[in-house]
Amino acid sequence: MKIYTVGVVGAGSGGKLSIAAAEASPRFQLAAAADLRAEARAEVARKWPHAKVFATHEEMFAQCPTDVVCVSTYAPSHKPIALDALRLPLKGILVEKPLGDTSRAGREIIEAVRAKGIPMAVPHGLLAAKHGREIIRRVWDGEIGDLRLVEIENSGWDIINAGIHWLNFFVTLVGADPPASVLAACDTSTRTWRDGMQVETVAVTLAETRGGVRCVLHTGDEVKIAREGRKTLFRVIGAKGRIEFWGWPSEYILSNEKHAGGAHIKVEPDARTNHRVHLENMADQIEAGAPDYTIPESSLRALELCEAAYLSNRRRCQVVFPLDAFTPPLTDWDPGQPYSGFGGGRDGRKL
Ligand SMILES: NC(=O)c1ccc[n+]([C@@H]2O[C@H](COP(=O)([O-])OP(=O)(O)OC[C@H]3O[C@@H](n4cnc5c(N)ncnc54)[C@H](O)[C@@H]3O)[C@@H](O)[C@H]2O)c1
Repeated sequence: MKIYTVGVVGAGSGGKLSIAAAEASPRFQLAAAADLRAEARAEVARKWPHAKVFATHEEMFAQCPTDVVCVSTYAPSHKPIALDALRLPLKGILVEKPLGDTSRAGREIIEAVRAKGIPMAVPHGLLAAKHGREIIRRVWDGEIGDLRLVEIENSGWDIINAGIHWLNFFVTLVGADPPASVLAACDTSTRTWRDGMQVETVAVTLAETRGGVRCVLHTGDEVKIAREGRKTLFRVIGAKGRIEFWGWPSEYILSNEKHAGGAHIKVEPDARTNHRVHLENMADQIEAGAPDYTIPESSLRALELCEAAYLSNRRRCQVVFPLDAFTPPLTDWDPGQPYSGFGGGRDGRKL
């Protein structure tokens, strides 16, 4: 069996998930890690003494090129590091979600990877987890009828960092029905930042597909979740049933004609971590010579939803897709204020 060497850039929480996955898999071998922080480098040297440790990705790429590079820094540095990595004789690349701080950066990464013709992993855990895949299959198989609404509540997180996992799940559920618009509002009173990005204190994001399927995502530092003890809640509502689940826990409740009272289904999780599943799927693609960009593309669509949500909030408008063709309107209209009788606009009784 071919064993692929791995170099990880950024040895924080995300990077260590890739390091641990490479270490646990017989198909990969951790060769090196790079991190700007001395403490992170010291931790890698202590826990994985066989790995070479560098302060920068440039040094790591020059002195220890690997078959696979994992880009596990913050979103704004994913593009420059990924593009540098693609100059190596790489066999595969993992780029953490969100692919970039903008969808344009994410698209440029995917285009560059496609041009090189190698597989790319974006480790969205729900797409690797057995219960996530099982829920997707049930929805695709019509077990809850036509999908109408996906409602998500998530506490302790934001649209772009964890919300992107949930939005990716939504775009995967709707499949070929692309996003049509996004409307979002963010409260920013606490000036919260997370994973290298300014984020909301609390926000609500409404996304709608061309086919009319809606997603309502409620994120923020302290969101009250409608289920005791849960940090995340999904309600996937179809015309003939619904599925409720709680993000990462490997279980869900299916309510439909067959399970009128709701069946609580516990799924035996994969013994492998989600990152390992993503890396091993990449190894399969390397060996088959057949890169599959389905997950990178859905991740990019999810990133567009994130970007649209923040743009919608910033410019107080509904963002209409395609995102790169959208120009926000200029508006001084202030809903809730008395209408003066002049100043233009549209008579809402004559629609
Ligand atoms: N897929 C997942 O489930 C998952 C889980 C956790 C984090 N992540 C992602 O991983 C990425 C990093 O987040 P995190 O939680 O690991 O943050 P973190 O703060 O724990 O770690 C980031 C590390 O990257 C290092 N770093 C930053 N810029 C660097 C650069 N240019 N070169 C080398 N090292 C650099 C930092 O020093 C830090 O040690 C984010 O994109 C995040 O969304 C994904």
